[in-house]
Amino acid sequence: MLPKKLIKKRSVVAMAIAIAMVGLGIMTPPVTAVRGGGGTPPGLPTGSNNFKLRGTQPDANATNMATFVEGASCLGCHGSYDQPESAPYDTWITSLMAHSARDPVWQAAVSITNQDANLGGEFCIRCHAPGAWMKEKGITGDFSLFDTTDYEGVNCHFCHRAVNPVLGPDSAVGYPGNDDMDPDVEIIEALQNAVVPWADDLMPLGNGNAQYVLDPQDVRRGPFDGIPLNFHNPIPLIHSPYHSKSDLCITCHDVSNPLYMLQRDGTYALNAMDTPHPTGNPADMFPEQRTGSEWQMSQFADGGVVFDDGRFGGNLDGAISSCQDCHMPDQTGYGCFATFEPFQERTNLPHHGMTGSNNWVVAAVKHLMDPFEAENIGLTDELIEAAESRTNQMLRDASDMELSIVKGNLVVRVINQSGHKLPTGYPEGRRMWLNVKFFDPAGEIVLEHGHYDFDTAVAELSTTKVYEAIHGIDEAVAKVTGYKEGKSFHLSLNNVILSDNRIPPRGFTNAGFESVQAMPVNYTYADGQYWDDTTFAIPSNAAEAVVILYYQVSTKEYMEFLSDEAKDGSGLIAYNAWVDMGKSVPVDMDCAAIEIVAGNPADLNNDGVVNGMDLGILLGNWGGPGGDINGDCITNGVDLGMLLGAWRR
Ligand code: HEC
Ligand code: HEC
Ligand code: HEC
Ligand code: HEC
Ligand code: HEC
Repeated sequence: MLPKKLIKKRSVVAMAIAIAMVGLGIMTPPVTAVRGGGGTPPGLPTGSNNFKLRGTQPDANATNMATFVEGASCLGCHGSYDQPESAPYDTWITSLMAHSARDPVWQAAVSITNQDANLGGEFCIRCHAPGAWMKEKGITGDFSLFDTTDYEGVNCHFCHRAVNPVLGPDSAVGYPGNDDMDPDVEIIEALQNAVVPWADDLMPLGNGNAQYVLDPQDVRRGPFDGIPLNFHNPIPLIHSPYHSKSDLCITCHDVSNPLYMLQRDGTYALNAMDTPHPTGNPADMFPEQRTGSEWQMSQFADGGVVFDDGRFGGNLDGAISSCQDCHMPDQTGYGCFATFEPFQERTNLPHHGMTGSNNWVVAAVKHLMDPFEAENIGLTDELIEAAESRTNQMLRDASDMELSIVKGNLVVRVINQSGHKLPTGYPEGRRMWLNVKFFDPAGEIVLEHGHYDFDTAVAELSTTKVYEAIHGIDEAVAKVTGYKEGKSFHLSLNNVILSDNRIPPRGFTNAGFESVQAMPVNYTYADGQYWDDTTFAIPSNAAEAVVILYYQVSTKEYMEFLSDEAKDGSGLIAYNAWVDMGKSVPVDMDCAAIEIVAGNPADLNNDGVVNGMDLGILLGNWGGPGGDINGDCITNGVDLGMLLGAWRR
């Protein structure tokens, strides 16, 4: 727990900053590069060359690139539908991607990145504020040049100008009225012929890492072929099968740190300062997030999975496969406000809520925003509440839990139903854990594992299972940075995965996950295993066990880190928003109870009766531990005697 004095100090400073900001009329706190200072070691003297990556490059003067338009310009036609869940604007506006540049947690992490690695913020902006990056804004970590559109983060116009870098059947199908003209060929050729000092060409390599390719024109690429009337005229509507594929999402949902180069022994070594990555291939960089690769190595990418209970996909029938199937489930409605001929009702409108697991940051963004600004962009409490309930449902659909009593112990099985590891994505501060309570016959708690205090946000996790990935820095990086070796939240410096026991998805293989730098670390899962079992000893007077699987987005430890480390006050703003929003309230993903009947140890298969089946188990395990009844770990004549003595009881 924090000492009271410290808590007070945190809020007073934040308030002062908040007041100063309102005074300046800035809706989101500016983040500027602050180097070293205080007790913190000075940052690495990296340069922008360290963060060069392929794909379309910034164009500050917009000479070759149409500027990005803000979401509000789509709102008139793609918002406020009769069926609100099918309206792209009204659902996107409460997604994390609509606020990926306003997110106070992100702003604090960028500030720390700029302290730790000079100009490292450029890397962050590529994904979290791609429109701003394209205009070379904020590359120095200075957000003061950002306008409203830049703060939109991943907006409508960005996604709908994305081009498939792989020419083929998923490429766009030509400008309407000019089917001979293939827009993608020209765009890809320009990348192939690009001359830059740091790479042979600009064709994206490997997976993700924001090597996006954008249409230089203002176009609207989307999933539908043959839209009867183009309301955007003269802006072309382009049919793009790519938009229905996971590849589009993987562009940003596989994150690799270009500061590091994979070595032969499997470690990651720091590259020379202000020098491009030796290969430019994300597979040779440190794997910060592997959501896209986890999916690619799962059964979801290989034919998909049919869910009998229809938990994912909305109207979609049959196998669930892509990111869109789960994160943009099909809705019924019209594709715009116009519900008249020639427009038609569609049953495959992708939900733009892009629901994930973050249940507090969008509310925090609104909380920190000028209320007029919030009203302007249509970010209402009502829409945020709807998004929160979608998020809770998503988390509940993510897993199933089964309880059983095996040999007098409670076994908790958590089954991953999602399309990647559970949990996946951003590792810092994200976790799931088991809360196990044993009750006596009078209903009093006799023992609890994984207790969480909802007031203080302190979790006691030493005796329970926690699912998480822990990243850190190795000895070599500790030496050059001055930070301690081991676990660390300095995400731009982290170069080792100390542990990762997150549950793999269906179709998991160790070789497959190893090939994409996503293997379990300090934990084992067998090929094909997409669940995990944890055993708890049952206290003698327990009559019932109740188990809850909790998920938490941002831990106290992580938020304190941001608050303590960011020298410009951005961490404090994030910390206080976290407090004000209820300290990232854990979500109960599953809850189950089991009665504990004082079982007969001779009932080896736990079916309530000692009979021939138990005898079979005992004989089949003769000499080994499997049929042991008296607890000496060997199945022998003593156990046989006990079993026969308990026959049919
Ligand atoms: C290649 C794309 C990409 C790059 C580059 C990138 N991120 Fe992210 N970041 C993501 C994605 C995707 C998520 C969401 C994953 C999730 O929610 O699990 C995310 C999530 C985060 C979060 C969690 C936000 C929250 O509200 O909990 C923080 C903080 C963050 N990133 C910081 C950074 C910083 C700092 C950098 C630069 C050093 C950076 N990111 C670079 C893609 C990227
Ligand atoms: C004047 C009204 C209007 C505005 C403004 C508008 N759209 Fe549309 N849009 C439409 C209509 C109508 C359709 C066709 C709907 C249908 O057929 O179901 C459409 C379809 C689309 C499609 C589907 C394309 C396809 O081939 O699958 C995309 C993508 C799209 N719009 C993106 C945008 C974006 C992004 C903006 C803002 C930058 C925007 N639109 C602004 C009216 C509009
Ligand atoms: C330009 C990069 C980019 C692209 C393309 C992209 N994302 Fe994201 N996505 C992000 C970033 C950055 C975040 C994290 C925002 C934050 O937490 O501040 C994010 C967050 C999310 C989240 C929320 C995670 C949470 O913690 O709740 C989901 C779900 C998601 N994205 C799904 C998708 C899907 C599905 C697609 C493809 C249709 C996609 N993304 C394409 C960058 C991208
Ligand atoms: C079978 C359904 C399914 C598929 C397919 C799927 N997801 Fe998810 N995803 C989920 C569920 C359920 C959750 C919530 C549980 C969690 O956080 O892991 C989730 C969570 C996420 C999160 C938030 C993770 C966190 O804990 O911070 C991101 C980001 C994400 N998905 C991105 C993707 C991307 C990108 C793809 C495609 C490469 C994808 N998902 C494919 C079901 C799916
Ligand atoms: C993270 C990327 C992403 C963002 C941001 C995004 N879209 Fe989409 N959009 C998609 C994808 C992917 C599809 C197709 C999904 C599919 O086929 O399953 C789509 C489909 C559409 C369609 C055709 C289906 C329909 O609903 O009529 C329209 C229109 C559309 N988007 C408009 C918008 C508007 C307007 C915004 C901003 C308010 C927006 N999109 C933001 C990725 C995005």
